[in-house]
Amino acid sequence: MGQLSDREHPEPLAPSDEAVLSADGLYKSYRRTAWPHSRRTPVLQGASLSLAPGEIVGLVGENGSGKSTLMKILAGDLVADSGTVERTDSFGYCPQEPVLYERLTCDEHLELFGAAYGLEAADLERSRAELYERLEYERFADRRVEELSGGTRAKLNLTIAMLHDPRLLFLDEPYAGFDWDTYQRFWAISEERRDAGATLLVISHFIADEERFDRIYDLVGGTTVQR
Ligand SMILES: Nc1ncnc2c1ncn2[C@@H]1O[C@H](COP(=O)(O)OP(=O)(O)OP(=O)(O)O)[C@@H](O)[C@H]1O
Ligand SMILES: [Mg+2]
Repeated sequence: MGQLSDREHPEPLAPSDEAVLSADGLYKSYRRTAWPHSRRTPVLQGASLSLAPGEIVGLVGENGSGKSTLMKILAGDLVADSGTVERTDSFGYCPQEPVLYERLTCDEHLELFGAAYGLEAADLERSRAELYERLEYERFADRRVEELSGGTRAKLNLTIAMLHDPRLLFLDEPYAGFDWDTYQRFWAISEERRDAGATLLVISHFIADEERFDRIYDLVGGTTVQR
């Protein structure tokens, strides 16, 4: 599958029951070196999940349960010890800790990522303008990241993931730094994209979010349990 939006670059649509992501039997442990011994701490112990087009799915679990580890593996940022992941190539990833360049401006980030995604200039311009406006931070377009607040960095982190309007979005606690108004705006954008056929996997702590999700997976003891 291509990197670009279905709406601007139509491709044959997959049948609605075809998974955009299918992960099976994922195991991951981290090595801990406490001299003279090296131990492995198991984090994932057979986690599996499947995502269909047009749904918002929650991934919930206590601190340290392995949610970010699982999402990194799904996004291809980390290699599992065993198990399989099949997914569309058209995806965006918003990591828990923003990966931004302190010396570059917001505009420069979006130009850089737009080029990496292979976006046409007009598509980049449209998408950038829309996300600046919807997330209300256009006034920071020319500011360097080093001058931005944590919440504005989080907006840029989210914009980078959404910029190319991917079919699948991995969002790791995307609204942890957002104020209430931005949080509501985040959900409005997410629901619109879901209704247009995109799939969102969102890591969340808040039980209050429960009704926002079409489905929820709990990560417990290294495995995923669907509620
Ligand atoms: N690079 C690493 N090296 C060693 N241990 C790690 C590494 N990354 C994560 N861990 C450990 O793996 C476990 C799961 O971490 P992870 O970040 O996936 O949890 P999480 O569910 O996302 O937590 P949080 O809710 O705090 O974000 C934790 O015990 C953590 O200390
Ligand atoms: Mg995490």
